[in-house]
Amino acid sequence: MIDVQVSSDYLHVMVGVSGSQILVTGALGQIGSDLTNTLRAMYGEGSVLTTDIHDEGSQEGPFQLLDVLDYEAISRAISEYSIDTIYHLAAVLSAHGEKDPDLCERVNLGGLQNILDAARNHGCRVFAPSSIAVFGPDSRPIAMQNSPLSPTTVYGRTKKEGEEMMLKYFHNYGVDARGLRYPGLLSWTTPPTGGTTDYAVQVFYEIHENEKYDFFVRGDTKLPMMMMQDAIRATMELMGAPSEKLSRWRPGYNVRGVSFSAMELAHCIRSRKPNAVMRFIPDERQHIADTWPEDVDDAPARNDWGWESRFDIDQLVDSMMAGVAQSSSSS
Ligand code: NAD
Ligand code: SER
Repeated sequence: MIDVQVSSDYLHVMVGVSGSQILVTGALGQIGSDLTNTLRAMYGEGSVLTTDIHDEGSQEGPFQLLDVLDYEAISRAISEYSIDTIYHLAAVLSAHGEKDPDLCERVNLGGLQNILDAARNHGCRVFAPSSIAVFGPDSRPIAMQNSPLSPTTVYGRTKKEGEEMMLKYFHNYGVDARGLRYPGLLSWTTPPTGGTTDYAVQVFYEIHENEKYDFFVRGDTKLPMMMMQDAIRATMELMGAPSEKLSRWRPGYNVRGVSFSAMELAHCIRSRKPNAVMRFIPDERQHIADTWPEDVDDAPARNDWGWESRFDIDQLVDSMMAGVAQSSSSS
């Protein structure tokens, strides 16, 4: 579990929104598990209804099975718990999406539309993440906020269309919908699955357990990444920002954490674990990685709502190694 420093990190964004009743979809995933801890620390355990399409049986606090393709079930949950804010995390990620494009479109676009319709009908605010996958090869090496969006993956297209849908619901129906183009996220609470940036997390688990790891991308593959603590703080800060401060980028602000190549990450790990053996054996996920930017420029997020990342690559590696060691010893 990530540290939840409510008093120092989040108090300023709680002004005016304490008392919120919150619904989290896809809550058992990589982001949902950490975001839920933060939301419950901020608003109280009973104020956060977590939901997912599967049930692990060990969740604390209110939990319901909820398929985001079922509009009526979403609407019932919102009424039952008097929900006013939705964190919509249910999705199919990039590598999984290329293998099952129909499911990716159904869940990422159909699910988002259901959430936005429910938000419109029940007067809820919505946070729904976008991704660096909205960019295509023409945005390399550094994607600016206003770089053209030409994704070549199904997942990227769903994220681009998702941003457009959120802006439409904001302008046409007054739904306060907000989003971030998250980079690849690193955490140790819940392992990532189905994504292209998963290697940047898997390497820490494998090196901790076996002292060896085969990256599924080339060593020179450089992508934008971010520690989960930064991603959660960015989410809370965006959701706490006054609506009038946000610009047309409200459904998909670029947020920069740190950018590094797989080789640079391997060097940083080896400087702390000299016996670690790491190789680079690209698979089909290399093709996806090759279409994404190496870095992003996040000037609008910094200007509009004061975004600032806190982790450099050394802090990120130290934090991941300590977190993985701690979670392995307690499991
Ligand atoms: P994840 O795959 O870990 O979790 C997604 C969750 O959604 C899973 O628990 C899954 O069971 C659930 N789900 C799938 N289909 C569902 C359905 N029909 N109804 C209800 N739940 C369903 O993903 P994550 O990493 O937590 O990502 C959350 C959001 O953040 C997604 O929108 C993703 O695109 C975005 N994002 C993630 C990253 C990252 O690096 N993790 C980066 C950029 C954007
Ligand atoms: N981390 C995500 C993925 O690799 C990016 O959205 O799919």
